[in-house]
Amino acid sequence: MQVGIDKIGFYTPNKYVDMVDLANARNEDPNKFLIGIGQEKMSVADETQDAVSMGINATLDYLDEIDKDKVGLMIFGTESSVDQSKSASLFVKTALKLPPEVRTFEVKEACFGLTAALMMATDFVRLHPKQTAIVIGSDIARYGINTSGEVTQGAGSISMLIKVDPSILSLNEGHSAYSDDINDFWRPNNSKTALVDGKYSTQVYLDFFTKTFEDYKKQKHLQTSDFDALIYHLPFTKMGLKANRLALADQNEAISEKLGQSFEASKHLSANVGNIYTASLYLSLLSLLQNGELKANDLIGLFSYGSGAMAEFFTGNVVEGFKKQLRPEKVQARLEARTKLTVPEYEAIFTKALADPIEGKELDSDEKPGTWYFAGVKDGIRLYKMK
Ligand code: HMG
Repeated sequence: MQVGIDKIGFYTPNKYVDMVDLANARNEDPNKFLIGIGQEKMSVADETQDAVSMGINATLDYLDEIDKDKVGLMIFGTESSVDQSKSASLFVKTALKLPPEVRTFEVKEACFGLTAALMMATDFVRLHPKQTAIVIGSDIARYGINTSGEVTQGAGSISMLIKVDPSILSLNEGHSAYSDDINDFWRPNNSKTALVDGKYSTQVYLDFFTKTFEDYKKQKHLQTSDFDALIYHLPFTKMGLKANRLALADQNEAISEKLGQSFEASKHLSANVGNIYTASLYLSLLSLLQNGELKANDLIGLFSYGSGAMAEFFTGNVVEGFKKQLRPEKVQARLEARTKLTVPEYEAIFTKALADPIEGKELDSDEKPGTWYFAGVKDGIRLYKMK
């Protein structure tokens, strides 16, 4: 039985900062951000966009193409949670008018959250082949103004429908996982921005990539040359480039060119959106599917990494006709519709979004009609509305 990704939806907020402007404001050489980090733009969420509203908006991309009554499971992966108890997915379920019979909850393990959701959803569909599952990753990466992680911020969401006979990517059974209890990046309950040991985090990421990639190849009797693309969690695109270089270290020119080109195709969206934590690997996938030169049955290797830390390498095969399921014009239009912020404007929006919402104060959004947003808190209850 083939099970995998049948639909992909994407949302990112309607504002961004250009990395050249940010570099100039921080007295850095713009090439450090553009080449050294590998980022061009970062999306900025104002106070009216949070993990919930972004997750709703990403799922709306494909909702009218699916049979809602078949959705038996919806899992929401995030590390930008809006409540310590109630799952983000319940707000989403209401907004999208999914049936009350759906099993739904939220999961967390840093950026690994959406992969955890995807793996559980795949197993669920294998056991319940008549049903489908929605998995959502939605996050706002915030390190703080004038921090070394600032250039690696971002905001957005990816939503995917998982079903039997998928029309985009068929996921292969088996995986290689690796975890360790370490402190490379974390966000304590009393902090709205992440704490990070940046250099250490990049070392652990590369170490876990090597471990899981080599173990997976051994398990499945594969060579690096068997892959048509390797894609990565992209906290910033240089991170993936470093992992890709490790993978290609002992490869001939033809393999290096093939996997070098597919990596380039996979990084385009992340370079323009920034880190969206749980959804970042799947933004690489969307970017590869849209911009790469893939054909039916091509083998894609996916590396998922969540700080703390948990990593997994797994694979999928591209399904014939996958391009028809994508909406590259819509993705492009969404990126182009973003308003460019000056650095002082971004700083003001960032600071306002970090503050707790004021009880009873209704918020309005400057998003286009049809977009969901966080409308404020009444009697301690978060309200979501459609523009
Ligand atoms: P930094 O210390 O400011 O940067 O922060 P740097 O001094 O290391 O420079 C970065 C690169 O720019 C270097 O290249 C420089 O040589 C180069 P590299 O040695 O790495 O190849 N450079 C230049 N290149 C061209 N022209 C120039 C120039 N100047 C310098 N003029 C750091 C970098 C990544 C540490 C920081 O941004 C940070 O802490 N980011 C957040 C942490 C992070 O993203 N870690 C990634 C792994 S952990 C992960 O992926 C999980 C995560 O997504 C969270 C989760 O799981 O939830 C973060």
